[in-house]
Amino acid sequence: METIYLAQPDIGEQERQAVLDVLDSGILASGPKVREFEQKFAEYCDVEHAVAVSSGTTALHAALLGLDVGNGDKVLTTPFSFIATSNSILFCDAEPVFADIDAKTFNLDPNLVEDKLKREKIKAIMLVHLYGLPCDMDAFSFLAKKYDVELIEDSAQAVGATYKNQMAGSFGKAGCFSLYATKNLMAGERGIITSSDDELVKKIRSLINHGRQGHFEHTKLGFNFRTTDIAAALGIVQLKRLPEFIIKRNANADFYNQHLSKIDWITTPYVPDGYHHVYHQYAIRVSGSIRNKLIKHLAENQIKAAPTYPIIIPEQSFYQQKGYGDFAVAKTASQEVVCLPVHTKLCQKDLVRVVDAILRFNP
Ligand SMILES: Cc1ncc(COP(=O)(O)O)c(C=O)c1O
Repeated sequence: METIYLAQPDIGEQERQAVLDVLDSGILASGPKVREFEQKFAEYCDVEHAVAVSSGTTALHAALLGLDVGNGDKVLTTPFSFIATSNSILFCDAEPVFADIDAKTFNLDPNLVEDKLKREKIKAIMLVHLYGLPCDMDAFSFLAKKYDVELIEDSAQAVGATYKNQMAGSFGKAGCFSLYATKNLMAGERGIITSSDDELVKKIRSLINHGRQGHFEHTKLGFNFRTTDIAAALGIVQLKRLPEFIIKRNANADFYNQHLSKIDWITTPYVPDGYHHVYHQYAIRVSGSIRNKLIKHLAENQIKAAPTYPIIIPEQSFYQQKGYGDFAVAKTASQEVVCLPVHTKLCQKDLVRVVDAILRFNP
């Protein structure tokens, strides 16, 4: 029996040819392909600019630095995400402040965020559109204005997702995307920042290139967060294919919804009206007492599933020492979520195998 993987990059002849063309061009570092990718990505997200960088993590780091987040500043974020979200705040010497999530969407709960904004001076909110489902952007755009805080969207998992027909990554001052190998749009291991703020983009472009102004002059301490034409060439092809990828992921999710929503011990993903989910992950909820048994049962059937994320960020060892508080909703989610394979390389037979294996499980 073949293994059904949780994630698999979708690489075709077009991607292969695009990389070979760059190799033949002799321009391997940041060159015309990077510029082309940035322009196309900005158009796709309906923003003025996109800046390609070395990873989703450096995208977050550079966006925060571009907004002058530094020592003494507080950035509000979610406890239920990949650790890069809040590590980027620590990289800036700033302090993460966590608020709990909504139990149904797994995204930050705007009411709990407002409670924090009332009590503490927060410089920025770092939202995460988790698993590919956008946050409640009406609520967060309103809060950002009311409390005069910057909004950054960690859109690492949400390329192409929309909220009321507006693209993820186009609401805040900056949107930060990961193009890691298994993301919905991949460029091997890279990232990209979206923004419509000319000044911010100018700052970020300098920061990611050793604080450069012109060719030989460096006006501040910066980084090498640049990307390559090889990665950009992959990104250009994947961007063209993205609509097809999103349709396929949604079709896979629909198939699971149809079969798994009938099972009383499973809660299938919740998608509010007006939200378009892109299913980077298809996350179901089961009782904490059976979660690991289900993952083991699937593994015995050569099906990879994952408890993404089993440890909330404030409980990771080097965060725990600082005592960021308790986040009961996120903690329960971390004990109950199971992500099933939903990627574009799955065929009908694979989907049926996953559903059959779950039907055979005795909770
Ligand atoms: C929500 C979230 N934020 C940030 C990142 C970091 O992106 P990268 O791995 O490209 O650095 C990821 C990657 O998995 C992510 O899922």
